[in-house]
Amino acid sequence: MELYEWAGRVFGGDCLEEKLLAPPEGVKGLTDLRPGPAVAWRRPPRSGSLVVAPKEQRIKFPRPNSLGREEMRVRSLHAFANHELMALEMMAWALLAFPQADSSFRQGLAQVLVDEQRHFQLYCQRLQALGVQFGDLPVNDHFWRAGPDIGNPLDWVCTMHLTFEQSNLDHAPFYGRLFRQAGDEASARLMQTIFEDEIHHVRFGSAWLKRYQAEGKSLFETFSEHCGENNPPARAKGFEFQEEARRAAGLDDEFIQALRDYRD
Ligand SMILES: [Fe+2]
Ligand SMILES: [Fe+2]
Repeated sequence: MELYEWAGRVFGGDCLEEKLLAPPEGVKGLTDLRPGPAVAWRRPPRSGSLVVAPKEQRIKFPRPNSLGREEMRVRSLHAFANHELMALEMMAWALLAFPQADSSFRQGLAQVLVDEQRHFQLYCQRLQALGVQFGDLPVNDHFWRAGPDIGNPLDWVCTMHLTFEQSNLDHAPFYGRLFRQAGDEASARLMQTIFEDEIHHVRFGSAWLKRYQAEGKSLFETFSEHCGENNPPARAKGFEFQEEARRAAGLDDEFIQALRDYRD
């Protein structure tokens, strides 16, 4: 199957069956001979319980000190599942949006997309074990709102991999610890799996940031100029800053310090 066809079905399908479509012969079996015309950003379709809820129906993300209650852990896991779903939809869009990008960039991104499909399914399985189906709670459009600001592969890398995914290097271990403290070992282990994969995803982003780095600018300057007005660098970190994980993801000390010290 052509990469373009696969990404088109994942992005354009309104149901989970299409959004979770696996490449028939794995990522390596995808060909990229006809990357097709660039597709401008639009919100991907969703049907039934996947439809984004109107603002007044949305529920707040739970406070960390409320996660001793199962209901609040379910809310967090449901929100995290939706993050995975939005991430995989946007990754499929990026494959459609940047047909001219390097073929190793496109293959790498396809692999990350497959990981996000798996993450979404892992969250759904955990929710099911807790008696909840994905879509039982209202979902928001958080990541999608960054879509209109992404105009090229450098913007993409800075927004998706180095902001949303980088922040998860802090969020995943933070929530994993709170789940464990609540005695929810299965959810804690899931956060550890996500954390380990996220290091690879941020590593993909940092490698391409270095490739696309603007002349005369530091890595952090390049990043902060391309992560989008509505998505400032502060969004790339969580409550507890994980320095080691960032190093493992290929970010250098100068970048890490600049982000650590960054204030809005
Ligand atoms: Fe993920
Ligand atoms: Fe990821």
